[in-house]
Amino acid sequence: MTTAPVLRRARPDEAGVLAALAVRSKGHWPYPAAFLDRFARTLGLTPEVVAANEVHVLERDGRVCGFSTLLLRGELAVLDDLWLDPAEIGRGSGRLLFEDAAARAAALGARTLEWEAEPHAVGFYERMGGVTAGWADSPLGRRLPVMRLALTTGAPPATTG
Ligand SMILES: CC(C)(COP(=O)(O)OP(=O)(O)OC[C@H]1O[C@@H](n2cnc3c(N)ncnc32)[C@H](O)[C@@H]1OP(=O)(O)O)[C@@H](O)C(=O)NCCC(=O)NCCS
Repeated sequence: MTTAPVLRRARPDEAGVLAALAVRSKGHWPYPAAFLDRFARTLGLTPEVVAANEVHVLERDGRVCGFSTLLLRGELAVLDDLWLDPAEIGRGSGRLLFEDAAARAAALGARTLEWEAEPHAVGFYERMGGVTAGWADSPLGRRLPVMRLALTTGAPPATTG
């Protein structure tokens, strides 16, 4: 039986699990193995980073199936990660994680949420209300859309911890 997903704060000792999940998640898109290896080397998810930032995981049936990372910079919040295990994609969990991160950013005083979008995920982010506000050079040598969402205070975050 599958239970509803639950959101909670990540523990620092989960940094390695989360980094591996991000690489599996990126591999959902049709990238060659060499690109995914390079991507894995750019990830800076250490226990210290998890402890110092707003990292929240999505658990289903006791398994970590996704996570988001928010970096708070005053009125700007940066969505630095949004990754789902491939088996979790397309079940509404992306919206759950995104809306939770946006609500938490607003509750913590941010007025704008910004992120560099994986090109294959732009349609998802547009469904979430995001708009492309510019372009940025990524460490992997690509130009990525920089997307933004204006935040309103309203619904509290879904995360319990
Ligand atoms: C991007 C990602 C988080 C989306 O999560 P998801 O669980 O598949 O999305 P949801 O099921 O919550 O979909 C929410 C809505 O977005 C739409 N959507 C989802 N992915 C989409 C896509 N790639 N393109 C266009 N629309 C998309 C859904 O149809 C749904 O629309 P609805 O509101 O009409 O029902 C997920 O595909 C993922 O983890 N991808 C691999 C990692 C990745 O690219 N992360 C982003 C890093 S910047």
